[in-house]
Amino acid sequence: MSRESDFKVRSKYDKYGAVTIRNARQVDKGAIWEIHIRAIKELCKSHYSERELQIWTEVLKPVRYEEQISKGPFFVAVAGDSIIGFGNLNQKSGEIEALYVDPEYAGRGVGIKILQALENQALDLGLKLLRLTSSLNAVRFYERAGYKPQKQKRWLLPSEMVVCVPMVKELVEELS
Ligand SMILES: CC(C)(COP(=O)(O)OP(=O)(O)OC[C@H]1O[C@@H](n2cnc3c(N)ncnc32)[C@H](O)[C@@H]1OP(=O)(O)O)[C@@H](O)C(=O)NCCC(=O)NCCS
Repeated sequence: MSRESDFKVRSKYDKYGAVTIRNARQVDKGAIWEIHIRAIKELCKSHYSERELQIWTEVLKPVRYEEQISKGPFFVAVAGDSIIGFGNLNQKSGEIEALYVDPEYAGRGVGIKILQALENQALDLGLKLLRLTSSLNAVRFYERAGYKPQKQKRWLLPSEMVVCVPMVKELVEELS
């Protein structure tokens, strides 16, 4: 059963305007691509060099999201008519593969809403453990959401290795 109605969570951040979470559609992939690039360039620059950011972003292309969107779960956060964030879960591996927020909307609770939607979906799919590979700048965000850092590792971009942090969370169904 879909938990889409659960996604309209009210929070202290709602003063910034209503944000809803919905399933991504193929037509969204251009907007997703733009946010992906801007989020890396703006929000990750505190922890990575310009060269690393360049290599990281130049391999991204809209077509790359097609398979992930069709497999799902792949959610977008929407404010008005605009997509302002996205995230996806690989249900086979139990891995959150991406979570990115438009830098203009960062710090307003959008990332946590997408993450909660992915976790709810993971619970519905019967997953007990979620994994992800966090960029260094996002570790505190995930820690606040209950993820535990593992040993740092180096992650291969096409021509460079960058440092990142594997993280895990045991999922617990909350009784309501
Ligand atoms: C990481 C990211 C998804 C967070 O999204 P966001 O919408 O800015 O985060 P939220 O506003 O939902 O933050 C939720 C909580 O985490 C905290 N938080 C968010 N980013 C944080 C950071 N970089 N460091 C410390 N705390 C952070 C917030 O203060 C907030 O805490 P609160 O509930 O006590 O107020 C977003 O900054 C982003 O897209 N970063 C670049 C891409 C990236 O690194 N993605 C992860 C790749 S795996």
